[in-house]
Amino acid sequence: MPCTCVIGLQWGDEAKGKLVDILTEQHDIVVRYQGGANAGHTVVSNGQTWKLSLIPSGILRDDVACVITGGVALDPASVIREIDGLESRGVTVAGKLRISDRAHLVFPWHVAEDRVLDGSISGGEAIGTTGRGIGPCYRDKVGRALAIRLGDLYRDDIAARLEHVVAIKNRLLAGWQDGTGRPYEPLDAATVRADTMRHAERLRPFVADTTAFLLDAVEAGSRVLFEGAQGALLDIDHGTFPYVTSSNSSGVGVASGSGVPGRWVDRVIGVVKAYSTRVGGGPMPTEQPNEIGGHLRERGREYGTVTMRPRRCGWFDAVAARYTARLSGVDELAVMLLDVPGGLEELKICTAYMVDGRRTETFPSHVDDIRRAVPVYESVPGWPGELAACRAYDDLPAAARGYLARIGELLGRPVTIVSVGPDREQTILRDRSAPGHPAWPRPQFRTPAGA
Ligand code: IMP
Repeated sequence: MPCTCVIGLQWGDEAKGKLVDILTEQHDIVVRYQGGANAGHTVVSNGQTWKLSLIPSGILRDDVACVITGGVALDPASVIREIDGLESRGVTVAGKLRISDRAHLVFPWHVAEDRVLDGSISGGEAIGTTGRGIGPCYRDKVGRALAIRLGDLYRDDIAARLEHVVAIKNRLLAGWQDGTGRPYEPLDAATVRADTMRHAERLRPFVADTTAFLLDAVEAGSRVLFEGAQGALLDIDHGTFPYVTSSNSSGVGVASGSGVPGRWVDRVIGVVKAYSTRVGGGPMPTEQPNEIGGHLRERGREYGTVTMRPRRCGWFDAVAARYTARLSGVDELAVMLLDVPGGLEELKICTAYMVDGRRTETFPSHVDDIRRAVPVYESVPGWPGELAACRAYDDLPAAARGYLARIGELLGRPVTIVSVGPDREQTILRDRSAPGHPAWPRPQFRTPAGA
């Protein structure tokens, strides 16, 4: 069962792109299965920088097939921009990229709804979405009546469907916009139809039944890499709701988003930063809105790739990451950006929360309790100097090794990958049976006898 998943265990931006790029050479197919153009990653390959959002970075290799499945909220204009950008720089996309005919489409009304509704959450603080129309697109998917999927664009009734949806959306948006002080500019059905049909023609060669393609592939023994977008704490069902994204961004989303049952996956890599970041609203118990946070933000260049917003930074939260590692069925850990906390005299790791005077190591299910959680910290020594030149585990200072070991112990999984900089060479791969790893699987995580 040679399928691998890469899942972010925090609030996204765990530098998964670099890891996916490294793992791609061991796989035949790379799959993006949830989220949309709210994600963005930068890949440096052969001295060139590539900024990709919907298309897996595997597209940069000739021998790898790339798939965008039906679980993705697909903005046609965004994916066409990416295809054109790649082709204009000599990358072949045709024949390598397949996009599911089941993918739900993001339309201009979704972007308008995102803008109007983000600030009107009941309970105060805005979600702070990326403004890419992702939530409204998924809402229409679940609501069904106003949803349009990629495959619908090639059916005879598409013009009538667009006309119908635009009329309803204009009424809804005019109502929602009422009271904001801004006049509502109605969408023009003819313009929407012309843009959509142009997109349909450009995307036609890429449209496929990706579920059938992937099931054939796994049954034939192809090696498939599933690339998670965002992070598990932003999972719509299991994250810090309502301050989440609109898809299953933890490991539980792989099967529903791709159509490939989880039983085909034999390696799940949980990716964490050596500290925590979050962009947008919502609770973040270990946030450091002070000098420490500033140190991490500047050294880690912690500004959003999609929106350029400064990210909120803080200490590593082992309560949250242990929860998402378990939720995602993680086998092993990749700790990214270990170079960033360098230069701090001591580091803190959150090992428990106090909620209303009671200590807990369980991540609370309600946002109000997460908001009230007071972190219980353990201090560990920091390390002076830079790690950028380290190429082997033993090159790391003892304090950095101690920090990694403690993270592995608290999360109950071995740290097998460590990143100390953006280049591929700045990646330390470790044998999971090396001394010092916690035994895995731990007895309590083993499959029950007879199951
Ligand atoms: P949306 O996904 O645009 O609806 O945004 C919902 C929340 O998820 C906001 O807090 C965003 O900042 C956050 N978010 C969405 N995509 C990403 C990502 O790729 N990295 C980090 N945060 C994200």
